[in-house]
Amino acid sequence: MILFKEAKALNQFLSDQKKNGTTIGFFPTMGALHNGHISLLDQAKKEAQLSICSIFVNPTQFNNPDDFKKYPVTLEKDIDLLVSHGCDVLFLPSVEEIYPPGYKAGVYDLGTLETVLEGHYRPGHFQGVCQVVDRLLEIVNPTFLYLGQKDFQQCQVIQKLLSLTGRNEQVTLRISPTVREKDGLAMSSRNLRLSQSQRALAPALFEELRKSKEALPSKPIEVIKQEAMRSLTEKGFVVDYFEIVDTQTLLPVNDRAKPAVALVAAFLGDIRLIDNLPVN
Ligand code: PAF
Repeated sequence: MILFKEAKALNQFLSDQKKNGTTIGFFPTMGALHNGHISLLDQAKKEAQLSICSIFVNPTQFNNPDDFKKYPVTLEKDIDLLVSHGCDVLFLPSVEEIYPPGYKAGVYDLGTLETVLEGHYRPGHFQGVCQVVDRLLEIVNPTFLYLGQKDFQQCQVIQKLLSLTGRNEQVTLRISPTVREKDGLAMSSRNLRLSQSQRALAPALFEELRKSKEALPSKPIEVIKQEAMRSLTEKGFVVDYFEIVDTQTLLPVNDRAKPAVALVAAFLGDIRLIDNLPVN
C-alpha cells in the first residue's frame, strides 16, 4: 500500500494513473476502521483498478467539540487492516493539507436535506461533510465513490453535492449495504466507545427498526414511531428521533406505496448512534 500525506503528490500520482486509463475506486473515512469500511474496499477492488482510502477526522463536520475530541483513533490497526485486505493507496492528510491557508469553504444549497433529521439535530454537520468530500474529490478525482448506507442521509447529501458541483459527470456514487454485528448492531467507529452494558443495549436500535418494518402494513406510522421511542427510552436511550420518511425526500410519507425508510438517532450516555432500515 502506498501512503500519501500530501494532497499535491497524491493528485499528481492519481492523474498519471488516470491518464493511463486506470479506474480509481475511492472510499473516504474518518478511521477507526471496521468491516463496514472493508466492504467498501472490497467493492472498490472488484470494480476499479486502483483502490484508495482516506483517513481524516474532519473537524468541520463535528457540531459537538467533545464528540470530535473523543472520536476514536486506531491508526496502526487501520493501516494493518487496509494492508491485509489489499488496499492500494492510503491518503492520510493533515488539517492543513485539506484546508490550506486561504482556503475558502464552499456553501452548499442542500435544501430540506439539511434541515430534517440529522440536519436538524446536528446544525452545520452536512456543510462540513460537503466541504471535506468536495475537497477530497478535488484531490482524488475518482471514477467511483463508495459510501455506506448506514449514513443514509449523508448518502443523499453527497448525491446532491455531486449534482450541485457537476462532479456527477466524472464520478459514480455507489452505496453499500449496512454491515451489522451478529446481534444486529450496525457497525460504526463510535461503537468502540460503548461500555459493556451500553454495548449490550445497543442492538435494540435495529430491533426497533425491524419491528417498525413488520408493523407498517397494519399500524399507523405515528403509533409505530411512538411505540419505538417509548421502548428505546425505557431501555435507557435518549432518543433524538425515530422517523419513517420518504426515501428520496426524507420528508414524512404521505403515500404508503412510495419507498420509505425508518431512521433512528439516539444516545447511550454521551455516545450518539444512528441506524436505518428501508421498510417497504
Ligand atoms: O462517513 C464518514 O466517515 C464521514 O462523514 C466522511 C464521509 C468520511 C466525511 O468526513
